[in-house]
Amino acid sequence: MRKTIVTAAAMAALFISSAGLAADGKAVYDTYCMACHAMGVAGAPKYGDADAWSARIAQGKATLYEHSLNGFQGEAGIMPAKGGFTNLSDDEVKAAVDHMVAAAGGE
Ligand code: HEC
Repeated sequence: MRKTIVTAAAMAALFISSAGLAADGKAVYDTYCMACHAMGVAGAPKYGDADAWSARIAQGKATLYEHSLNGFQGEAGIMPAKGGFTNLSDDEVKAAVDHMVAAAGGE
């Protein structure tokens, strides 16, 4: 798990200059969240997989935001607070959640 976070952080450092100031959910996802969510690493619900996301989306956005901002341990694994990138603003993390939910068929 720690290794995954370190790898993800290293990847983010490579792309950090491409992270805009405005909360662009897709950019935040592409830069930070994709490391785990694109392939479903360590139990992360896979991007665009409606089945993996439906029960999570049903919890409501407030819960998804809360789990993303503060971290969350579920049955599948551990979602680190802000994906481990505590430099992200709350708005950036929320925008990335919106992007991922929309990609999985939620609103
Ligand atoms: C180090 C890997 C990792 C990174 C990076 C990561 N996630 Fe996750 N995330 C997970 C795992 C694992 C879970 C599933 C936890 C469980 O349900 O057991 C998860 C779950 C979630 C959930 C669902 C929470 C719920 O209540 O079901 C959301 C939303 C989420 N991540 C958003 C994000 C966002 C936004 C980012 C980027 C800022 C991000 N994640 C980056 C590993 C990661």
